Amino acid sequence: MVRKALLPVAGLGTRSLPATKAVPKELLPLVDKPAIQYLVEECSRAGLDDVVFVTSAGKSGLEDHFDRLPGLEAALAAKGKEDELALVTGLAELASIHSVRQPEPLGLGHAVLMGADHVGDESFAVLLGDDIVDPNTAFLERMIATHERTGRGVIALLEVEPEAAKLYGIASVQPGDADDEFLVTDLVEKPPVDEAPSNLAVIGRYVLPSTIFEVLRDTPPGRGGEIQLTDALRTLAQDEPLVGIRVDAPRYDIGDKLGFVTATVSLAAERPDLGPALLDWLRDFLAGQDAASGAASRGGSA
Ligand code: UTP
Repeated sequence: MVRKALLPVAGLGTRSLPATKAVPKELLPLVDKPAIQYLVEECSRAGLDDVVFVTSAGKSGLEDHFDRLPGLEAALAAKGKEDELALVTGLAELASIHSVRQPEPLGLGHAVLMGADHVGDESFAVLLGDDIVDPNTAFLERMIATHERTGRGVIALLEVEPEAAKLYGIASVQPGDADDEFLVTDLVEKPPVDEAPSNLAVIGRYVLPSTIFEVLRDTPPGRGGEIQLTDALRTLAQDEPLVGIRVDAPRYDIGDKLGFVTATVSLAAERPDLGPALLDWLRDFLAGQDAASGAASRGGSA
């Protein structure tokens, strides 16, 4: 049974600067919840009740977010703010939160290896904070069930445009047990369009056997001098193919600035308390933009 999740959050977040100079990118809010909360809620829904963050200096706010805060709780209770109190206390009940340190950002593979002692010899899930999967889907549950059924490492695959292959790890695949399931025999990191073995890109959800730790210990630094999880997954796949499941649910890449903005808008639009008003505003906003660009082009052609 898979019950542990490892969340690497020790990266530098350089693509999100300057926001991430003093605030970890996983604490940046999407609407009213920090990104890390979406991940821990996803773990909790999938039955992963033991979550370990791989953190680094300056990121203690991540753990604080899930801790009790008696002063705030007492103040909310005294003011009769029951809804807000439930929001705050509920966080501590999502999962048992642990943390280990990655002393230097030596790569995602190295970050995962830092969790080896905590995970022990159990299979476990890895979730990356850049990827937010729509909260209304049970994709992680399906990955866990697939691992429990097959005993193989399971990875999440996203269908991408051929030109986007150069931004991702791309899987070499054979057909699997379902239309959206594949056997992954190899991975190629960021290939040029004509060398991509498929249009299926690896994204930040994995369910892995604990043998990955032995492989990571033997994995030398790769691209950028970092120990790459992709290199270890290749070794694992060469031993026994991994299972790749295509993500059909909406998924947002919030490590990228445009992805962050679209995630915020989409998640707010789905909310019953915010969605209708936001969509009304967006319609007016777009109509205003259309009118302005129509006026500009008429002015330009005059
Ligand atoms: P990214 O490659 O997105 O790196 O790492 P990053 O530093 O967060 O962001 P950019 O590219 O500089 O903007 C993917 C995940 O792996 C973690 C990151 O925190 C992120 O969740 N990571 C990466 C570590 O925990 N340690 C590392 O050494 C590298």
